[in-house]
Amino acid sequence: MYVCVCKGVTDHQIRRQVDDGARSFRDVQALTGCSTQCGKCACLAKSVTREALSEARAEASMGLAYAV
Ligand code: FES
Repeated sequence: MYVCVCKGVTDHQIRRQVDDGARSFRDVQALTGCSTQCGKCACLAKSVTREALSEARAEASMGLAYAV
């Protein structure tokens, strides 16, 4: 779904940026332009970013557990 209409950014794009190394909402903003115009999408964009970061951290910790 579209999170940011002004910049045409979807939730999939935000998740992909996190998968590719974005580690903060500022990173996502810089990489996608999300929330850099009217700002009405900021709350949802931050929520999607937070969820994606949480999933990435969980996957990383599982990877560490398996590596031991
Ligand atoms: S909807 Fe995202 S900046 Fe306007």
